[in-house]
Amino acid sequence: MLGIFRNPWDFVVSLNIIFMNIGIDIVEVERIAKLIKNKRFLNRIFSENEIKYCCNKKNPVQHYAVRFAAKEAVWKALGNRKLTHKNISVVNKSNGKPEVYILSKPQKKIAISLSHTKQFAIAVAVVR
Ligand SMILES: CC(C)(COP(=O)(O)OP(=O)(O)OC[C@H]1O[C@@H](n2cnc3c(N)ncnc32)[C@H](O)[C@@H]1OP(=O)(O)O)[C@@H](O)C(=O)NCCC(=O)NCCS
Repeated sequence: MLGIFRNPWDFVVSLNIIFMNIGIDIVEVERIAKLIKNKRFLNRIFSENEIKYCCNKKNPVQHYAVRFAAKEAVWKALGNRKLTHKNISVVNKSNGKPEVYILSKPQKKIAISLSHTKQFAIAVAVVR
């Protein structure tokens, strides 16, 4: 088996790829704009920190939408049906890079990437 790899590192890299799970989600920003008018929805889905982060932005709804997409993408990647939206939280580092926290603990093995426009927000999550 190891013979097909040029060196042991290639073997480790391919194992990492085999055991990776990916999740993706795209959200229409307009849909989230309607939903967040409902305070119960807002507080059921987003953490206090996420609400603070979005409120401080020029176009808060795009940031809410991409966080909603991130939670769904992480949920798909983890395949954990017990997780709720609020259990999955997005925290931005000082350079803006987003990180995933689950139940307040940073998850080093989950990588996410987010992007948004006026119309759409998209998130990809990779779990190792
Ligand atoms: C950070 C940057 C990539 C954001 O891209 P953008 O097109 O303005 O906006 P997008 O909608 O695609 O992405 C926004 C999201 O990027 C994420 N982001 C911000 N800074 C980031 C960073 N340093 N690393 C990874 N992700 C980052 C955030 O999650 C942000 O959304 P949020 O504020 O709601 O959390 C961009 O502002 C930038 O600095 N670009 C420079 C790229 C560059 O130097 N290219 C030349 C070499 S290819």
